[in-house]
Amino acid sequence: MRLLIAGGAGYVGSALIPRLLQRGYQVDVVDLFWFGNNLPQETGLLSKDLFDVTVEDLKKYDQVIFLAGLSNDPMAEFSPSKNFIYNAAAPAYLAYIAKKAGVKRYIYASSCSIYGYTVNELYDETRTVASSYPYGISKLQGEQAVMNLMDAEFSVIALRKGTISGYSPRMRLDLIVNTMFRTALHEETITIHNPAIWRPILAIEDAITAYVRAVEAHESISGIFNIASGNYTVGEVGDLVKTEIEQQLGVKVQLLIRRSQDFRNYKVSFEKAKNVLSFHPQHDIRAIICQLVKEMNKFSDWENPMYYNIQMLREMENGIRSYELGAAIGAGR
Ligand SMILES: NC(=O)c1ccc[n+]([C@@H]2O[C@H](COP(=O)([O-])OP(=O)(O)OC[C@H]3O[C@@H](n4cnc5c(N)ncnc54)[C@H](O)[C@@H]3O)[C@@H](O)[C@H]2O)c1
Repeated sequence: MRLLIAGGAGYVGSALIPRLLQRGYQVDVVDLFWFGNNLPQETGLLSKDLFDVTVEDLKKYDQVIFLAGLSNDPMAEFSPSKNFIYNAAAPAYLAYIAKKAGVKRYIYASSCSIYGYTVNELYDETRTVASSYPYGISKLQGEQAVMNLMDAEFSVIALRKGTISGYSPRMRLDLIVNTMFRTALHEETITIHNPAIWRPILAIEDAITAYVRAVEAHESISGIFNIASGNYTVGEVGDLVKTEIEQQLGVKVQLLIRRSQDFRNYKVSFEKAKNVLSFHPQHDIRAIICQLVKEMNKFSDWENPMYYNIQMLREMENGIRSYELGAAIGAGR
């Protein structure tokens, strides 16, 4: 089976693709390589904007996975116009041409952030979504557009993922557990902006499994699925990260508790993914910290702007990085 992964050079794709290759799939990536290229040599590379992909290009693929776009709130707020183009129009365009090309399945990287601010109830996929911020709105627009194209010949699966954490060869240190890990080791402090807020956390290993289950699901399956390893309050996440780091690395960590307003608060049910996709998460916060400790030598240059999406976007918008990134892509690796 041949797969095209749009945005596959990012944090999720760089961890997912080695697993897909191990399972015998042929994998190509179309990407702008904003964060460089950490993909295995066997990956086929198309270095371009996915808006430049044509129906003809897609005829050789069985499935297309969308992992592109501006992937967090700070990026979306920095450039709302680019956010709506890359997060709403881009997945719609790619799904439209994939269907025209005869691709059998389209898998869309949705997000639990579309639930917005809820009232501490467990939300399943039938509940009303209510995000009022650019990232959440655009992820929902992308989801609605691609789900509308689903039919008997064109399976569409949207994975509404919680906040992912853990190690990827394209590392991000701007995701909740990863950020706490960095500040605990670098500053011996974890800042909890609001301990009462709920967040579904998704270990990257479980995220990879969710994509594998989606790729391998029976051809008759389509639909929207919440995907998380577990629901936690941010206060509990901080406690668990502190305990694990103190036990595993012998570093004393201080907690700083704040009461900042947040516009996201949600916990989700992932029963549907268990029942339909056979998705059974295996990784809790402890497992995420164990993985980060094991791999930490690979990202202990903590201040590298590559690990912070908003810094890279700012630098790209200011033209600082364009030469460097262009050179990296031209070199192919
Ligand atoms: N990381 C999370 O916690 C999380 C949670 C929920 C949903 N998501 C969604 O999952 C997807 C992957 O997230 P990530 O953390 O791997 O993101 P990332 O920012 O690490 O990677 C995104 C990749 O997409 C590429 N890209 C962006 N726009 C493109 C375009 N128009 N054409 C070609 N390439 C393009 C970038 O160069 C980059 O390599 C995103 O759609 C994100 O919204 C992520």
